[in-house]
This record gives sequence, C-alpha cells and structure tokens, in this order.
Amino acid sequence: MDVLLVGSGAREHALAWKLRQSPLLGRLFCAPGNAGIAAVAECVAVAADDLDGLVALAREKAVDFVLIGPEAPLVAGLADRMAAAGILALGPGLAAARLEGSKGFVKDLCRAHQIPTADYQRFKAPAPAKAYAATLGYPVVIKADGLAAGKGVVIASNASEASQAIDAMFEGAFGAAGQQIVVEEFLEGEELSFFVLSDGERALALGAAQDHKRVGDGDLGPNTGGMGAYSPTSLMTAGLENEVMGRIVKPTIAALAEAGTPYRGVLFAGLMLTQGGPKLIEFNCRFGDPECQVLMLRLKSDLLPALVAAAKGELKNVALDWSNEVALTVVLAAKGYPGSYLKGTPIHGLDRRGGLTDAFVFHAATSMNGDQLVASGGRVLSVSARATSVREAQARAYAAIDRIDWPEGFCRRDIGWRAIAREQGNG
Ligand code: AMP
Ligand code: GLY
Repeated sequence: MDVLLVGSGAREHALAWKLRQSPLLGRLFCAPGNAGIAAVAECVAVAADDLDGLVALAREKAVDFVLIGPEAPLVAGLADRMAAAGILALGPGLAAARLEGSKGFVKDLCRAHQIPTADYQRFKAPAPAKAYAATLGYPVVIKADGLAAGKGVVIASNASEASQAIDAMFEGAFGAAGQQIVVEEFLEGEELSFFVLSDGERALALGAAQDHKRVGDGDLGPNTGGMGAYSPTSLMTAGLENEVMGRIVKPTIAALAEAGTPYRGVLFAGLMLTQGGPKLIEFNCRFGDPECQVLMLRLKSDLLPALVAAAKGELKNVALDWSNEVALTVVLAAKGYPGSYLKGTPIHGLDRRGGLTDAFVFHAATSMNGDQLVASGGRVLSVSARATSVREAQARAYAAIDRIDWPEGFCRRDIGWRAIAREQGNG
C-alpha cells in the first residue's frame, strides 16, 4: 500500500518509523515532514493546512491510504475532503473533530450523556462569565472554545486573574477561538492521557501515557505542547481502563454515531484522576505528541492494517499486541520555548540519518541547511528509550541526550519523576 502521512512533528516521525516496518507498506510520503522523517519517508513540501494541496498530492501519487496526524487539518475538514475525492483516509471528519475543535461542544455532549467532567457553563459575553466564575470559587478554569494551539486554557487563582483572562479572550487574544468561552470547575488529581482507535462504532484501547506539560522541572512554569512522556503507567489499572471505556469513551463514540457523524480515528482522552473517579478534561481528535512516540515504541503489532481497518469501519477482528517494556521520551526544545526562541541553530552529535545507535531520536522540527542539521521550531527532538523500568528508560534517554551537541537547546531533567517515585515506593 502507498501511504500519505500528513504532519511534520515527532508524532509523525514516530508514525512514519512504525509504518515503515509494515510488510504491507509500499511508498510512504509525508507532507510536509522534516529532516528526520526524510530518513523513512519521501517528504513533499505541502503544508499540513493546505487542504487543496493535500488532496491533489494524494491523487497525484495515487496513494491507497492517508493518515492525518495533527488536529488543524482534521478540524478544518481534511478527512471529509479526502472522502469526497474517493481516497481512504483515517481521522474524524469535520463534525466529529469538534471533539477537539469546540470545548463547549464536548462539555454539552458530556452533560447530555452523563459523562464525568468538570462543572461548567458556556458564555458569549464577559460579565455573566465573571459572575459564574465567582460562584465556582478559585482556582477556576477559563477556556477559549476553539483551537488555540494549546494556549487557550487559563487557570485563574483569583477573581482578578479570572477577570483578566475572560476579558483577554473576548478581546481576541486567541482570535475567533475566543469568541465563545467555557468557564469550569478546577479539578484536582493526577493527569493521564488515554488513547483509543475507533472505527465509528467500536473502540479499541491503545493504552495510557503520562505527559509533562509544564516547561520546568517539578512540573513548574508555563504550559507547553508537552516536554516528555512515558508509557505504560501503573496509574492505569485494568479496572480504571474499564471505567474510562464504559463511562467516557463508549458513550462518546455512540453519541457521535447516533448523530450521524461517526468518529473514525484516534481519540485522545485527557483525564484527571480525581478523588471522585476519572473525569474528562478534554478530548483531542488525534494522537498526542509526545505520547505517540512512546506508544509506537511499545506497539508490537503492525500498525498499518489496524489503521486501515478503522478507516473502513472494520475494527471488529483487530487486536493489537503491546510490549510491557516502558518507553520514555524527553523533548529537546529551543531555549526560550514556549516563548520566543531562535530558529536555524545547528545540531551536532547525531549520525547521518539524524539518529543515535542506542536511542530512538524522533525529529519534531528540523531541517537541513546544506549538510548541517538545524532546529526549525520550538520542540525540536524527542529522544526516546525503552527499558524494563521507568528509571532505566529515563537513564537511557538522558544518556543519549547528553551525546547530542546543541548549545541552543534545553530539556527537562525529570521526565517520569512521578512514576519513578512510585517505583521506588513499591520497590
Ligand atoms: P487543555 O489545553 O484543554 O489540554 O488544557 C491544558 C491543561 O490545563 C490540562 O492539561 C490541565 O493540566 C489543565 N486543565 C484543563 N482543564 C482543567 C480543569 N478543569 N481542572 C484542572 N486543570 C485543568
Ligand atoms: N501532549 C499533549 C497533546 O498532544 O495535546
């Protein structure tokens, strides 16, 4: 099968790396890809948000299957465009992708189907939003309704911060995404990322991972796209997985099917493990980044036929086999991220294909300047390792990172710390 993969992050590099191992794979194209992905796929310079360009590319290369990695093209309707062109693609259509594209849509769906989530109200004007925030007490959570590149959530610790955040959103801080907002209850607990593959009717669990969203060690500082992750996590027991499938995932898949907008693709449930049980923080309509990297390192089965089966609505006889080993990934980012940072700085220490022999180096934002590998974004590399414990996987990932010579980069030094504390507590 010839495949087109849409996207350019470390998530897509991990997917391309995994697809490349499939005996069913013929040619693999990636649009637009990056310097690391170029080692396993033919990169084509079509942007991930150029819907016309992507449909034209899929036609021109006559691919048999399209895998859509990032949320922006999904929320913009790329899956529908591929379907209309008669091209098999995986990823929800525009209507089902509202699970990520509109926070208010998800909250209303939760309310209608008794799916556990934080109490909330939706607003189109600032004054009633502020009044409702005051009734919830502080901290309180303020969310822009639409896609805001991971920046549209503010946790306000008092009335003045809440008021500022609400005003900023209605004044256009997140553009159209903030024309409507959600104000919700602050949930306390540990966060978990849980993934399923759905064919519109059934949902196959892909497992759980824990991400580290804050930029600094100890989970401090501003939120980022994710600074590192590991999988599996002992937090996700079989009982908890059953509860999440039964109370959160299945009702959602069923509701969308019933509405005539079936969800076909990877569904990412961001969960908070509260004293009152698991609650949904948010859905994403795709794999997480960096969570995808650790899931792909643990997947023993062939990924391609499972994805194709989901796209065709035929997941019934699909089962996936996962390694019990721990996979852990550490993100190397450009100094300054998630604020402003330099682009184009040289990275040394990787081999000709952009890798290392003793670790898995997934590229998030790299390009070639002549013969020189350079950083071309905020999150730049996702350096990953496997081992029998989180502690050992962490040691291997950092040993690899220490061989990469990139003075303009930085990383957190404590990825997996909660799990390592748990391992030590248990051991
Ligand atoms: P999101 O952009 O929706 O992933 O939210 C970003 C982060 O904000 C989440 O990963 C949580 O850490 C935090 N967050 C979102 N909603 C809540 C909530 N209701 N209670 C506590 N933390 C939240
Ligand atoms: N790692 C969080 C995300 O992909 O949204």
